[in-house]
Amino acid sequence: MSFVEYSDCIQDGDVAIVYLGHESMTPVKVKRGAQTQTRYGVIRHSTDLIGQRYGSKVTCSKGGWVYVLHPTPELWTVNLPHRTQILYTTDIATITMMLELKPGSVVCESGTGSGSLSHAILRTIAPTGHLHTVEFHQQRSEKVLEEFKEHRVDHMVTVRNQDACKDGFGVTGVADAVFLDIPSPWEAVRHAKAALKKHVLE
Ligand SMILES: C[S@@+](CC[C@H](N)C(=O)[O-])C[C@H]1O[C@@H](n2cnc3c(N)ncnc32)[C@H](O)[C@@H]1O
Repeated sequence: MSFVEYSDCIQDGDVAIVYLGHESMTPVKVKRGAQTQTRYGVIRHSTDLIGQRYGSKVTCSKGGWVYVLHPTPELWTVNLPHRTQILYTTDIATITMMLELKPGSVVCESGTGSGSLSHAILRTIAPTGHLHTVEFHQQRSEKVLEEFKEHRVDHMVTVRNQDACKDGFGVTGVADAVFLDIPSPWEAVRHAKAALKKHVLE
């Protein structure tokens, strides 16, 4: 499993989305020997999850059932732990289109926040693109890096714990697009200009 590649079967170490209903889903770290409690009873990872196909209907110990879904950026956006306000999928779709993102794009983003937009960018620019994301809140930058590792997208992203308005994005002349979701975006415009590829500015 990776957030940028589809796998058929659930494996130890995956993050799967347990879907109880449209208003009730939860991300689960799949671990041999572990159990997840739901209102329909227990899900035993070793027997109920590992080796099953993504999308399967899994019967819990009280007889109720859930679907176990492959993670996507869209499902992550509605299930992620909120550390900030986040961008939702309708706005992310517009941003992706207006920035003309595609596989191979190099993107700069600030702030990373809860990583909702970041996950969608990564899926769009995979497998050869790169995201440079800047977050000045140390714990947020550490937590999102942990999530990128768990979601197996960390090879495509550089997280920088710095102030985008003072210190910029840490790269010069490489970005196809820059997106700012910070309170004073105008203060980062000169750094955005420095990060962009020359031909993007022409
Ligand atoms: C609204 S949140 C971003 C949400 C993100 N787009 C998402 O979808 O999850 C704004 C984030 O920007 C960070 N931030 C604000 N000003 C910043 C700056 N000058 N440099 C870096 N990060 C900044 C905040 O700490 C916060 O985490």
